[in-house]
Amino acid sequence: MAEQAQLFQDLERIRQVALEDLQGIQDEKELQSWRSQHMGRNSLYMQVFSKLPELPKEERPLIGQAANKIKNDLETALEARQFELKAKSLKQSLSSERLDITLPGRRVSHGRLHPSTLTLRKIYGIFAEMGFQIYRSPDVETDSYNFEYLNMPAYHPARDMWDTFFTTTPNVLLRTHTSPGQIHAMREFAPDPIRVILPGMVYRYEQLSTRSEIQFNQVELLAVGRDITFMDLKGTLEDFTRRMFGEDARTRLRPSYFPFTEPSAEMDVRCYVCGGSGCPVCKGSGWVEILGCGMVHPVVLRYGGYDPSQYTGFAAGLGPERITLNRYRIDDIRHFWANDIRFLEQFS
Ligand code: FA5
Repeated sequence: MAEQAQLFQDLERIRQVALEDLQGIQDEKELQSWRSQHMGRNSLYMQVFSKLPELPKEERPLIGQAANKIKNDLETALEARQFELKAKSLKQSLSSERLDITLPGRRVSHGRLHPSTLTLRKIYGIFAEMGFQIYRSPDVETDSYNFEYLNMPAYHPARDMWDTFFTTTPNVLLRTHTSPGQIHAMREFAPDPIRVILPGMVYRYEQLSTRSEIQFNQVELLAVGRDITFMDLKGTLEDFTRRMFGEDARTRLRPSYFPFTEPSAEMDVRCYVCGGSGCPVCKGSGWVEILGCGMVHPVVLRYGGYDPSQYTGFAAGLGPERITLNRYRIDDIRHFWANDIRFLEQFS
């Protein structure tokens, strides 16, 4: 009897200690070790069970029932604590990982168009409205197209006007201007009339400066037909500059020389960087040259497949980077291909 009472006391003590320990538990891992300590094979609770066979037969059910009740109590308490801990950790993560959906989102950075591309698109738009189509010709040219068909046979001194990048293949070079495209276009369209622009990169082995690059864009302008005159050229260019730079833009047409046009001229615009007072961009002159032009030379017309006694034409070669310098008041052309994102981000 005394032994039975002792076992009841032991069981009650086991229950109390286990429940007290349970209250101190703070996470799932501790919960697992609590379970093996108080309910596992080596626990005090299991030791009580192992003493059952030593008890008189009639006492065993009572102790057994009491032990089972304790087991149920502990399991219920364990589940409740588990639930509490889960709720607590959910609450913690909800507050620490809280997302404020009212915050404005991060701005996605969009790419920008290069200032030269912006100018080129504007040029295309202006000439498209005047009825000019875009015609593409190759960056890599033969000596014949770049020089000979443009009235510059071998050893012609005017070839020195364009410092050339030659390739290792004889007579193959990087075009120094878009004018060879005139011959490609004429040979494709002759004897029909032509009104095209020919945009593209050109390459020159030149000294870099604030306004001269070794790689830059040009847009060639070519019109061939019957009765085309210098006045058509002048009118077209004046209309272009008005649309490009605005009504107030000041331009001037100067006589010049190109072997493939006769007569030849160059057009300047008032330097936007200094307003005409003189700066490195305009070499102190107050004017920036933006294009060369003239009436297509009879020799060139003939190479293109047109009879110069029946047809005339005008041509021009625009420098979009020079135009861009003026449009955006950029003080150095070397920014254009330096790939500095701070420069490129400024244009939209
Ligand atoms: C020519 O290249 C001629 N083919 C233009 C032409 C075409 C004349 C048709 C007559 C008829 P020029 O070398 O001047 O010409 O170049 C034309 C334009 O390109 C210049 O007015 C200038 O705006 C631009 N340009 C010339 N060199 C450079 C350079 N190094 N960097 C940036 N732009 C340049």
